[in-house]
Amino acid sequence: MTNQQRPVVITIDGPSGSGKGTLSQMLARHLGYNLLDSGALYRLVALASMKRGFDLAEERLIAPVALALNVQFRVAEDATRIILDDEDVTDAIRQEVVSMGASQVAAHPAVRAGLLERQRAFVAAPGLIADGRDMGTEVFPAAPVKIFLTASAEARAERRFKQLQNKGESVNKATLIADIRERDERDSKRAVAPLKPAVDATIIDSTDMSIEQVFARMLALVKQAV
Ligand code: DC
Repeated sequence: MTNQQRPVVITIDGPSGSGKGTLSQMLARHLGYNLLDSGALYRLVALASMKRGFDLAEERLIAPVALALNVQFRVAEDATRIILDDEDVTDAIRQEVVSMGASQVAAHPAVRAGLLERQRAFVAAPGLIADGRDMGTEVFPAAPVKIFLTASAEARAERRFKQLQNKGESVNKATLIADIRERDERDSKRAVAPLKPAVDATIIDSTDMSIEQVFARMLALVKQAV
């Protein structure tokens, strides 16, 4: 395969609420690339394990769930529907309780190992936008464009607050900030694949930037490299 045909992988890592999800979707659409939302896979493992009544701290119970995950991503006009064991869980995996669960299961090395090949299988022509925490460090270390998108915990909590409000979920802002800090702490301190920028990643702090500004910056980085 020549370089021209080889699918381009662009990794976008960062903490939750940094805008990664929205921007990854925007970039994928703009470039006509495929999209890997790796956080959704960890959320699915958490939800599937919770449905089975498993203790999320029990790595030996959760790892087989990750390996055997029966999931389909159905690409629709406006959004991708996520189907787990024939049930549409697109909204269910975004609940706060699943967010916390995902962060717990993501700390198990055997769960991460179990999802590795599934994530790499998303690479397809003409390219892939890989959204997560360890896309640039562990899953696609050879990616030619690596972006680490971050923002202050307060700014991220504010964005999440608005998202949840729009969905009609009632949440307390102070609790959200505390939850985000707890999750950041666990995601960045865990022994395997902690949340950190790859050495060759470009760091973008979106605290005081609009989505459009971040998008333009990312697109410029992609155009430079590809
Ligand atoms: O991006 P998100 O909020 O949907 O991710 C859910 C959880 O999964 C988050 O707590 C961190 C974890 N995660 C991870 O450890 N590695 C990834 N590549 C993606 C997500």
